[in-house]
Amino acid sequence: MKRGFLISFEGLDKVGKSTQVELLMKHLNSKGHDPVLVREPGSSAAGERIRTILADPELKGKIAPLCEFLLYSASRAQLVAETISPMLEKGEIVIADRFYDSSTAYQGYGRGIDLGIISHVNAWVTGGLIPDLTILLYVEKFAAANRKANNRFAPSLFDDRLEQEFLGFRKKVQQGFLEIATREKERFLVIEASEKKDQIARKIATRVDRMLRARTK
Ligand code: TYD
Repeated sequence: MKRGFLISFEGLDKVGKSTQVELLMKHLNSKGHDPVLVREPGSSAAGERIRTILADPELKGKIAPLCEFLLYSASRAQLVAETISPMLEKGEIVIADRFYDSSTAYQGYGRGIDLGIISHVNAWVTGGLIPDLTILLYVEKFAAANRKANNRFAPSLFDDRLEQEFLGFRKKVQQGFLEIATREKERFLVIEASEKKDQIARKIATRVDRMLRARTK
């Protein structure tokens, strides 16, 4: 059976990723597609429980980096087995709000876990599955973004770092994402997150449409 498409979205928290995921879903719906949306960690009963552990305020700062990495990986293993692989086998389009590049960037570049080990575990839990397209939203100006009055870039629920430490962590994570994108140019569409929402959505839609056309020829 023809394999479907896997499109992942990556980037730091609160860069407008979820908005763009939604806009792409709408765009694909308007073209008669019915994509499956998954988010990490979560999107399976076991994965949502794991998400609860990772976001538990009582555990803030108490989960060792390796434990954190394995929890994300465990959630991913379940999601691939339960939803992503079967849907791709059926020929469906799957849109993933984060996938294994998040582990490489956050747990590898951010927390310092050995990148070789992360790469092995990523391949292991996904059965070697690689997204057909990964959209990376990145922020050019950290300091300015951080000073925004509406605090859009404030630490997420998952993070308890002090402002400065948090900023350093974000920079490392984003640098990681950009390095992965440089290594795997073909797979990535890299877009600056401060561009207009509609303009970003158009770029994404154009690239996705082109990819779908090329595959269905
Ligand atoms: P979430 O609330 O889903 O935020 P977002 O909308 O930014 O995706 O939080 C997910 C958090 O988990 C986010 O801070 C990134 C982090 N994360 C990792 O550190 N490693 C991973 O492998 C994944 C999937 C997420």
